Amino acid sequence: MTSILQINSSLFGDRGQSSRLAAEFAAALAKATGGQLVVRDLAANPVPHLTAERVAAFGTPPSTRTVDQQRHVTESDTLIDELRQADVVVLGLPMYNFGVPSTLKAYFDHLARAGVTFRYTSEGPVGLLTGKKVYVFATRGGQYAGTAADLQTAYVRQFLGFIGLRDVEFIYVEGLALGDQQREQALAAAAARIEQLAA
Ligand SMILES: Cc1cc2nc3c(=O)[nH]c(=O)nc-3n(C[C@H](O)[C@H](O)[C@H](O)COP(=O)(O)O)c2cc1C
Repeated sequence: MTSILQINSSLFGDRGQSSRLAAEFAAALAKATGGQLVVRDLAANPVPHLTAERVAAFGTPPSTRTVDQQRHVTESDTLIDELRQADVVVLGLPMYNFGVPSTLKAYFDHLARAGVTFRYTSEGPVGLLTGKKVYVFATRGGQYAGTAADLQTAYVRQFLGFIGLRDVEFIYVEGLALGDQQREQALAAAAARIEQLAA
């Protein structure tokens, strides 16, 4: 059975355009494949920022961890296991102030674990979470795709690739703040793409 992990990062919860589109696609995919859907909402349940203590806990061998360190590692392990179990990841990615939501950055920081999600080799780092497909619903008020001002795409691709998720498809939904006509056009194009992708 296909396991689908939907990750929402809009400030606006289910009402965010990125969450709404990610949900629509994930539900259509689950229906088409008879798959199982898990939803992680990073606005409703934000993960904590990294601290020096957390990073130290990640680097401490299990046998010598304190109770607090083990708690920190378990929180990260839970997020990683959830992702590891997914065959398909559907990410709702709003653009806020030219970047990714800070909640998504905090989440990513819990996923990057040496020896767990990537390892260093003589040829450089190798990602360990392989064999997954990722769809990213990137919603923006303006228009950036394909330009140097799109700082999100390179970052998200680089991070996901680093932990082994290399098959990443972006669906850009842009111009949402550029007037009714552009907004309607962008949303209609997104709906058509969702139908195509889920078929
Ligand atoms: C705090 C905030 C910052 C934003 N910054 C940008 C931005 O830098 N560039 C842009 O094109 N749109 C920006 N927008 C518009 C959002 O990208 C747009 O509303 C998009 O739909 C957000 O996705 P969401 O509805 O899933 O939250 C911003 C919106 C908010 C609320």
